[in-house]
This record gives sequence, C-alpha cells and structure tokens, in this order.
Amino acid sequence: MKKRFGWFLAIIVALIMTVVPLGQTQHAQAADNSLEQIQKKGVLVMGTSPDYPPYEFQATVNGKSKIVGMDVQIGKQVAKDLGVKLKIKSMSFDSLLVALQTGKVDMIISGMNPTPSRRKNVDFTHVYYQGGYDIVINKTDKGKYKNKNSFKNGTLGAQTGTTQYNAVKNQTTAKAKGMTSQSDLILALQSHKVDGVAMEKPSAEAYVANNKSLVAIPSDFNMSSSATSSAIAFRKGSTSLVNKVNKTVDRIKKQNLVKKQYLPAAGKYLKTNTVNTSMGHYWKAFATGIEYTLIITVCSVFFGFIIGILLALARMAKGNPLKTAIRWLATAYVEFIRGTPMMVQVMFVYFGLGLFVNLPALTSGIIAISLNSGAYVAEYIRGGINSVDVGQTEAARSLGMSNGETMRYVVLPQALKNIWPSLGNEFITLIKDSSIVSIIGVTELIYQSNIVRSDTYRGVAPIVVIMVLYFILTFTASRILNYFERRMQHD
Ligand code: ARG
Repeated sequence: MKKRFGWFLAIIVALIMTVVPLGQTQHAQAADNSLEQIQKKGVLVMGTSPDYPPYEFQATVNGKSKIVGMDVQIGKQVAKDLGVKLKIKSMSFDSLLVALQTGKVDMIISGMNPTPSRRKNVDFTHVYYQGGYDIVINKTDKGKYKNKNSFKNGTLGAQTGTTQYNAVKNQTTAKAKGMTSQSDLILALQSHKVDGVAMEKPSAEAYVANNKSLVAIPSDFNMSSSATSSAIAFRKGSTSLVNKVNKTVDRIKKQNLVKKQYLPAAGKYLKTNTVNTSMGHYWKAFATGIEYTLIITVCSVFFGFIIGILLALARMAKGNPLKTAIRWLATAYVEFIRGTPMMVQVMFVYFGLGLFVNLPALTSGIIAISLNSGAYVAEYIRGGINSVDVGQTEAARSLGMSNGETMRYVVLPQALKNIWPSLGNEFITLIKDSSIVSIIGVTELIYQSNIVRSDTYRGVAPIVVIMVLYFILTFTASRILNYFERRMQHD
C-alpha cells in the first residue's frame, strides 16, 4: 500500500513539474516576431464571446447563424490591414484569456476592458471604444430599483470573468450570481432568478431594444477609465503586432467608424434577429449537433475500447519487474482518470497539451473522452476476464495454446460476451457525457442549443428540443445494443 502511495505522489509531482515551467517559458519568450508570424500564417484567429450585442452576437443571416457586431467589423479591418484572413472562434468570455495565452486564438476582441490585472498577462492595443455600465432589470420592477445600491439583499447577475462581475461583488451588498453566458443571465432575469444584470451600456441598450419586458437603469459603479473602455488583446510581448494594429485602431477612432458605421450595422442585425424564433427553423443547427455528438461518441467508444483492452491486460501483467512496473502504471492511470472530472481532462487536453501541439477542439475532445472512457472500459474488461473460469485457461494451455493465443481465442471472446451490457452502457453514457466538450467549443448538441438560445432569446424551448433529441439517440442506441446482446446469447 505504502509503495503505491509513493507512486501516486511521484506522478502528481511529475505532472506539476511539467506543466508549471511551461507557463513561464511562454512569458520569457524574448524575440518578438509576432507580426511576421501572423503574416506568414495568413490567418488571424479572433477569439470572442458572442453574447454581447452590439459588440458581438449571433444572428441569422440568409438562414445561417453567424457571428456579427461591431467587434467583428473591427476584427475584419485589422485583418485586412495586416493582409491576412480573419477567422472567428467563439468561446465563453472567461476562457478567452487562457485561449490567447495557449495559442488557441491570436487576439481577443470581445468588448474586453484593458484593466491593469489583465495587462499583467496580455498586451492591449489602444482603446477603440469607451462604454460605461448599466443594470438591466425587468420592466415590472421599474420603480423598485434605481441603481447599484437598490439591490441591498437582492441578487445581481454578471458574466463570470468580467469587470462588472467584480464590481457587483465589491461595490454592492447584493448577492453576485455569475454565469458564463450573458444570454443565460438575461434568461435568468426574465425568470426572476436574478433581480438585475450588470453589463456595458451599449449591450444593455441592445438587450432592452430587443426585449419589451426589460429596461436599463444606470449602475453608478465607480470605475476607472480602463475598466470602461474596450481594446484588443494580444499575447504578451507581441509588440510589433500591437504597434501595427494600433495604426488601424487609431484610424478607426479618428474617422469615428464605430459610431458612424459599425454600431448602426450591428443594430440592423439585432432587428432581423427577432424574426423567426421557431425551433423548426433551426433544424440545421440541431442536425449538426447530432452529427458531432455521434462522431465524438463513436470515435471515443472505438478508441476507448482499444485503450481499455490494453490497460486491462497491463493491469493483469505479473511475473518479472518490468511487468510489475507496467501493472503499476496502468493502475495509476486508471485511478487518476477515475479520480478527476472529465471536464477538467477535456480542458487539460485542449489547453494543456495545446502548449506542445495545437490540436483542434474536436480532436482534443475525442482524445480526452477516449482516454477517459478507456479507464472505465479497462475495469469492465478486467472484470470480464476474471469472470471466465480458470478451467478454460487451463484447458487451452494443456491443448498447447500459448498465453497470448489463450487470451485471444478463448478468454477474450467469452469475457466480451459477459461485459457486453456494461460496454453498451458506456456507449450510452458517452452519448450524454460527450456534451462536456461544448466548453471547448466543439459544435455538438449542447453547443448548438446554446447558439439557438442566444439567437432566439428563448430559454426553455431549445433545452426541451435537445432533451428529446438526446433521448431519441440513447433509446435507439440501447435498442440496437439489446438486439446484439440477444443474438450473442443464442449462439
Ligand atoms: N467589459 C467587460 C470585461 O471586459 C465584459 C465584456 C464581455 N464581453 C463579451 N463578449 N461577453 O470584463
């Protein structure tokens, strides 16, 4: 037992030691070839959280869901001036800084305030827009609340990781309710889960214009000017890139393009956004969601099964010291995977391994879920192998079969039959649990339902739709699995 504990400790320490210095080498990057790199690459990846109209939001344009808004216009202008293509990556606001630091995106344009604490980790361009803060409330509460001080024992919502969240926490006595998505906060407001939602004035005005049941009141937050302005963020040390982009930002400001062109253009999308909110209209989004959910599940079950067999065999290895070491390693792996949340593993593969290799979100998701599933499957397989009578092995061996042959032709086939129900369960579990990869922006069902929710401002309908869709998927899968289970029992 003691030996084992030492082993785990060693793994944890090794993990920490590999990850910690990595973060630091990033900061120490000396030579600045950021501008050159982007121009060589030919694409500029912009990270944004499209739940903040008129800065950035989803809108249906010619039947297709698109990210639009004044920040997108700015991004386009920046890319154009750099002579590269713009690619937009959507994610939750609180993931943006990590995504920038780990190279998942090249810049952030997301109404982000260039605050001193953020400046420690990233570089900002000049300010392109100056906002200020409002609180959005239900129209029915209009007389009740005047500003931040009116919410004494109430609840104020704010997006996590934002300046306004800190303001609610530090400058009011209200309970702060943080959510990752601004659209969810609005839904929480409409269903009276929160009494008000703090956000930048232009965004408050956009939500109010789009929603007859809402009004905005002044926040009266005490804010420095850096906390009310928006700028573009780049990785720390990208001076050449920032200097170049500053020229674009300065020109946009000098010509007053945000007020004259970008904001009015965004306003138009806001109106068309309210046109069709029926769920049937979004069938394409849901279909894509199902497609990705199935891709992730099928791939992960396949790779998870292979990993599971290998791990199970490794866990049963004994004899010489090498085999013992293999057994320990496999045991440690299984324990570690089962002892950490899949959500953390998904983020670790995407952001953590992202420091070495830049894996796309879908691949990262499949890797993480396969690795996770493998640990569970290994245990089923091991149980299945142990459940096969030793007499079988002895008989096979006395017939002259080698160890490997006995395993392959005698034990594994019987074990597989025993564990088929558990494997089936694993498949069904993965259909549901694969939803976790929505946090890294894989466009599966949950992700799509979030898009539909922010697109239509309807909270419940998309949830009901995906609930039904998930059930259809899992129910069909379990019927199919049952069919094969019955067939296996016959022969
Ligand atoms: N201005 C705030 C901040 O920088 C919030 C910006 C939120 N942006 C968004 N796209 N949701 O903290």
